[in-house]
Amino acid sequence: MKLWGGRFEKSTDALVEDFHSSISFDQRLYKQDIQGSIAHARMLGEIGVLTSAEAQQIIEGLKGILTDIREGKIQFEIGAEDIHMNVEKLLTERVGTVGKKVHTGRSRNDQVALDLRLFLREEIDHTQELLITLLRTVLDLAKEHQETYMPGYTHLQKAQPISFAHHMMAYAQMFLRDSGRLKDTRQRLNVSPLGSGALAGTTFPLEREMVAQELGFDGITWNSLDGVSDRDFALEFLSAASILMMHLSRLCEELVLWSTGEFQFVIMDDGYSTGSSIMPQKKNPDVAELVRGKTGRVYGDLVALLTVMKGLPLAYNKDMQEDKEQVFDAVDTIQKSLLVVEPMLRTMKVNKKAMAEGAKGGFTNATDLADYLAKKNVPFREAHEIVGKLVLYCSKRGCGLEDLTLKEFQEHSDVFAEDLFESIGIEYCVRQRHIPGGPSPESVAQAILWTEHILEQFTGG
Ligand code: ARG
Repeated sequence: MKLWGGRFEKSTDALVEDFHSSISFDQRLYKQDIQGSIAHARMLGEIGVLTSAEAQQIIEGLKGILTDIREGKIQFEIGAEDIHMNVEKLLTERVGTVGKKVHTGRSRNDQVALDLRLFLREEIDHTQELLITLLRTVLDLAKEHQETYMPGYTHLQKAQPISFAHHMMAYAQMFLRDSGRLKDTRQRLNVSPLGSGALAGTTFPLEREMVAQELGFDGITWNSLDGVSDRDFALEFLSAASILMMHLSRLCEELVLWSTGEFQFVIMDDGYSTGSSIMPQKKNPDVAELVRGKTGRVYGDLVALLTVMKGLPLAYNKDMQEDKEQVFDAVDTIQKSLLVVEPMLRTMKVNKKAMAEGAKGGFTNATDLADYLAKKNVPFREAHEIVGKLVLYCSKRGCGLEDLTLKEFQEHSDVFAEDLFESIGIEYCVRQRHIPGGPSPESVAQAILWTEHILEQFTGG
């Protein structure tokens, strides 16, 4: 007999039984479901809807179920549809008729909204820990490599010299924003929908704040329709997760590129690379590639839930049962990705020599030469033209700007003097960019301090 079977004359078709049951995946919410029911029952006891003895019996029963599920002693039933009804059924089997009172003033619609909020709150906290560990590793790399020079790129063409620290600090900023987004999501989701009922609240004088407080919420939702039909919090999480994956994916893409024989900027640790079944020489950056690939899954989770939600009339619709697998998949994917990217980054070797070599070719100092002229009062556009001609001149000879003689420079502009050579040295070019946010070692040191300061506020507050 179904918990909702009263108005039915025939039983559910076996195909439907299987099709609409969510217990195979929503059993993952058992802890949150029981936690919510305990808080609800306690409150029902406090306000006299249940006697305190009844409330106590229910709470004890629920605690026993929690322990038994944890110990793997419970076999869930597809026929009981979802985690909510499985728990309620188990409760009634254990404590008798009083178990049938736990659902007073409640609906599975507000119950599932509650469970998912509790679940995500916990997973956001765990994700934050993993993300911050990664961020600290990125900061450590930046601290170590403030004077490791490398080419910076635009269009994947060598552009201007920077340092490896500066490159890493770009990712530090991305991860810091990701952390901020998760923090915002957590703050907005942390309100209790319990008391919204099926859609229109309840006639019982529930103490919503009492339940919210017991469950660690900052407050309650303020519209019962919205309380059961809102999945913004899940979408916000999936959006934040998608952006975070996009950042991890870009980092991984660079690691794949940098570990090629052509670049050789980094050497991946053996523990984070794999071989080929046919080509004996191969050492492939599979881990980085897989993180890049898994980014697609998380985008898929976001787009799937956005699409589920877009046409739904208020309030609850069964379509919304589709929210859980997307959320679970995204949680698992970002956590596993964060977990593996951190040690991959920490253990890789940075090839300073290859980076420094790379920083030299490709006229990465051309802008600095134009700046040199501009600082001697040549209008920048003219300076750009002069240096452009010099680059062409060098290209035809197969040399760099630094290989020309002063005479050759002066043939292009009489403003050039001996001091130009200093101004186009790679190290000098980076050091001169000591603008806040720039790549000079002192600017990067400043950025590291600022980032650590914000991080402290995040983790302390
Ligand atoms: N298993 C359902 C879900 O995850 C719980 C809510 C069901 N509510 C209902 N009215 N059928 O969405």
